[in-house]
Amino acid sequence: MSIIDNMVEESKTQFEQRKSDHIEYSLLDQNEALGESGLCSFELIHDALPDLDFSDVDISTKLLNEKVRSPFFISSMTAGHAGSVNINLRLAKASAKNGWFMGVGSQRKELFDNTAAKEWEQILNQAPEARLIGNIGISQLVHTPIESVQKLVDSLNGRALFIHLNALQECMQPEGTPYFKGGLKAIEQVCNKLSVPVIIKETGCGFSIPTLEKLKSIGVYAVDMSGYGGTHWGRIEGCRSKDPIYLSSAAQTFKDWGISTVHSLLNAKQVSPDYKLWASGGVRTGVDAAKLLALGAEAVGFAKPMLQAAINSEESLDIKMQQLEYELKTALFCTNSKSIEEFKTKKVLLCRSN
Ligand SMILES: Cc1cc2nc3c(=O)[nH]c(=O)nc-3n(C[C@H](O)[C@H](O)[C@H](O)COP(=O)(O)O)c2cc1C
Repeated sequence: MSIIDNMVEESKTQFEQRKSDHIEYSLLDQNEALGESGLCSFELIHDALPDLDFSDVDISTKLLNEKVRSPFFISSMTAGHAGSVNINLRLAKASAKNGWFMGVGSQRKELFDNTAAKEWEQILNQAPEARLIGNIGISQLVHTPIESVQKLVDSLNGRALFIHLNALQECMQPEGTPYFKGGLKAIEQVCNKLSVPVIIKETGCGFSIPTLEKLKSIGVYAVDMSGYGGTHWGRIEGCRSKDPIYLSSAAQTFKDWGISTVHSLLNAKQVSPDYKLWASGGVRTGVDAAKLLALGAEAVGFAKPMLQAAINSEESLDIKMQQLEYELKTALFCTNSKSIEEFKTKKVLLCRSN
């Protein structure tokens, strides 16, 4: 039986249950490796006398060749189930209003259910300006023809495609599909043939030097670190695992598995100066984001904080986004930086352990 058959076989109820478990369990503090992103090792150097007015500070930048109000994006989350439409609609409206790119959750269901793409049609009808980025997992990608991958992107007028790598999650998930063989070749093919840029992301376990070496010269547009230090899928799947009986204990063994967001970013810088660096995984404030920009990221993503706010209300989400942008702007002002570009070229970061 092929993996696609395997996925078709999964009952609708099982799929719906898994997706709603993911939302429920990702909101629990215990499933977050908070404080482990590596960001606490750095502080930004305060300038008591910036030669600026706050209103001079401009945090706009360019991402994926589009001018954006800030370097922030909504990290990929949920899709394809009853509970996802309202959350995604709120996220998409906020993406449209604030001009943030929004990674959608895995589009896996669209590969075997022709009606699943309607979610995006509905959402784009109500938020036509949303800047969406498609998403597929590596274990689906290796068995999916390029035409079908292109369809996923086209279904949401995607500006790019995220391919997510989630080896630990697939091993700890009771219904997991840890089939990664041929993944690198599949990524290379998609990079060569897809009409939009391809961004490779982890899902909370980050990137080592050898992995980044493999991905270096196959046409990947950017790598989104999604490192250890935030939402942790070993922990989340551990909460769900009842069968086989040893799985939840195994997940416990792996509860601290992963390479921190900061470490992953430094790995990527070491491997190639050409890597476009997107950073996510445990980013919780505008100051966290500023540190990642100072370390070389061009974009910074938030998953859990966006989910929490979106579940609350459209207004909470809007306020959260404004807060994060305000915090970044304040970090620039207090380091005497007029723009992101200037901030990134200055020495604004101090390593606490030095
Ligand atoms: C409820 C939920 C669902 C997620 N689903 C996906 C997914 O379908 N595809 C994906 O690439 N990442 C997915 N992620 C991972 C996030 O994109 C992100 O990499 C990870 O949560 C780390 O970011 P955070 O610490 O800000 O939450 C999901 C995250 C959450 C919270």
